[in-house]
Amino acid sequence: MCGIIGYVGKNPAVLVLLEGLERLEYRGYDSAGVALVENGHIFVEKKVGKIRELIRSLWGKPLKATIGIGHTRWATHGEPCEINAHPHTDMSGEIAVVHNGIIENYRELKEKLQAKGIEFKSQTDTEVIAHLISLYYEGDLLEAVMKTVPQLRGSYAFCVMTSREPHRIVGVRYGNPLVVGIGEDENFLASDIPAILPFTRHIIPLSDGEIVDLRIDSVDIYDTEGNRIVKDVISVPWDIISAEKGGFKHFMLKEIFEQPKAVGDTIKGYISRDYLLPFDLKSFRRILILACGTSYHAGLLGSYWMGKYLQIPVEVMYASEFRYADVPISDKDLVIAISQSGETADTRYSALSAKERGATVISLVNVMGSALDRESDYTLYTHAGPEIGVAATKTFTSQLAVLYGLAVSHSPKKDQLMERLSALPHLMEEVLGEAELIKKLALKYANKKNMLYLGRYLSYPIALEGALKLKEISYIHAEGYPAGEMKHGPIALIDESMPVMVIAPKDRVYEKVLSNIEEILTRRGTVIGLGFKEDKTLIGMSKDFIGMPEIFEDLSPFLSIIPLQLFAYYIADHLGLDVDQPRNLAKTVTVE
Ligand code: AGP
Repeated sequence: MCGIIGYVGKNPAVLVLLEGLERLEYRGYDSAGVALVENGHIFVEKKVGKIRELIRSLWGKPLKATIGIGHTRWATHGEPCEINAHPHTDMSGEIAVVHNGIIENYRELKEKLQAKGIEFKSQTDTEVIAHLISLYYEGDLLEAVMKTVPQLRGSYAFCVMTSREPHRIVGVRYGNPLVVGIGEDENFLASDIPAILPFTRHIIPLSDGEIVDLRIDSVDIYDTEGNRIVKDVISVPWDIISAEKGGFKHFMLKEIFEQPKAVGDTIKGYISRDYLLPFDLKSFRRILILACGTSYHAGLLGSYWMGKYLQIPVEVMYASEFRYADVPISDKDLVIAISQSGETADTRYSALSAKERGATVISLVNVMGSALDRESDYTLYTHAGPEIGVAATKTFTSQLAVLYGLAVSHSPKKDQLMERLSALPHLMEEVLGEAELIKKLALKYANKKNMLYLGRYLSYPIALEGALKLKEISYIHAEGYPAGEMKHGPIALIDESMPVMVIAPKDRVYEKVLSNIEEILTRRGTVIGLGFKEDKTLIGMSKDFIGMPEIFEDLSPFLSIIPLQLFAYYIADHLGLDVDQPRNLAKTVTVE
């Protein structure tokens, strides 16, 4: 998923664009580029690879332009190379476009345009936008965009400018995120808030089908019919510091260490609203949780707690599977859509389709003003602050805090249980205090090619999440599995070379997990035990052991996930990998 940015103001646009692109880089890092209106013409510079390549090639160039657009790419159509990098221009070179998303009918449009004699330079879907706007351009960029948009099918956000009107940028949102940033004598457009946080905290999130005409002293928003829309400006509670590394080597490490505060702030935010859901959770026939990736793992854990305390059926589905499966849905169902970004296409469109079929939709998001926030019936927020590392960490534990609060919201022991939850940050700090020990252990396993993660009951979703963290940042193949399922197949994988991380807090399934460990040891497997500090039995059965403080059964996941995040982090860092921007990944997945 690409990152796009636009600036019109009084300062050198290239500086604003490059700073913004660096903050958008976690959205895609195959290539980057900018376009500026320089001396009455469009100036384009684009480079393959990271933003630093673009900065290097722009270094020393006397660029005075105060209007420009920029792009960082996650390639979908056309391999990562300079010709396919954005911005893309029309044949005159005087109209430039940056785009995030997919134009699904680009082949058909391309053929029509080629039949009119238009020559294409790239293999991208995006280039059709530049040529279409050029085709309709008669001196008014907004008008040309209004005529172009109805031709496009797919999900997209794009910004366009022309040297013929060097004072405006037109932006369009349809499916992919685009926010307006309001400044003094300057205004901004960007795919997300952290990109413009250094310049303003006053934003207007655009909704699907909205078109913005951005100038130095005005921001006009229209629907696709050309009707003016008046929108509220919201002030985001994040500050620039929260989007910096704060002295840590990587954002991911910083965000792992921010978890006690993120969970603490989220619990406070939740308790302060005093569980004020505008409906009774127990009035629904079923709760269906929809999510992807790490958010799915949080949902799976939430379903265990909700099953325990709410005593109503709770199902969890991968949103991408729910989307095209014939799952019966009605107004007796409550859907909880979990997404830190609030923009993941699979989760968004699944929630929308459930809503269209009558379900009530709660969204649980970390980004205020995101699509899911605006499109759901009710929103619960995590208060984790911006998460820049592609691998989700602090948003995961913050999601767990809200899901646990929801689960116990009807329990007669609610206050006692929430009190226990509020004591968590202190125990999480204690686990973080073991980071150096976990680092040593991680380096021992850094050269392994495979790894198994096992857990039962509440530790099963943690096994899944631990394996995902290792996969996505160290590129080591890892599988999370219910420990009880091992003997039904995966046990065939066990030999001396296969390390097995076993999450075994002393809970209702502890004895069962010990038996599963016996099965592994019988096949000479290597066990890394993760359990309560003083657990002599588990220590005795493990080749290596990670200890965590004793804690109430329900809450062990908040502690056991931290060593697994650190384990994956230290292995990836040791292997010299790009921890914050792992290959082939992007922070927000806005295409299906
Ligand atoms: C997790 O580390 C990954 N970044 C990814 O699996 C992520 O959880 C998934 O894409 C869902 O993102 P969301 O929470 O923003 O919807």
